[in-house]
Amino acid sequence: PSITFIHPDGRQQQIEAGDGESAMQAATRNDVSGILAECGGNAMCATCHVYVAEEWLARLPAMSDDEDALLDGAAAERRPSSRLSCQIKLAVDLDGLVLNLPDRQL
Ligand code: FES
Repeated sequence: PSITFIHPDGRQQQIEAGDGESAMQAATRNDVSGILAECGGNAMCATCHVYVAEEWLARLPAMSDDEDALLDGAAAERRPSSRLSCQIKLAVDLDGLVLNLPDRQL
């Protein structure tokens, strides 16, 4: 699936993700700045925070309690669209997914 990251300055970066890869893994593999992923995808750091584009929000699986709790500690403001990109598993049904990057992760 192809997914698009939108940087805080409005710059769009479209990348190709592998099936089953997380949005965080796809981002780090493609050098998307703004995703730090310090814990390596273990839902422990919240430095892979993203804001999911409105139209995609309902199409993602519900978040776990762990993800929910971690998002409260994210560096940038938490919004209703906030998710951890390491917990977003990509598959063809998410082709075209749009994720906005927060202004900071630390
Ligand atoms: Fe650490 Fe996602 S990479 S919570």
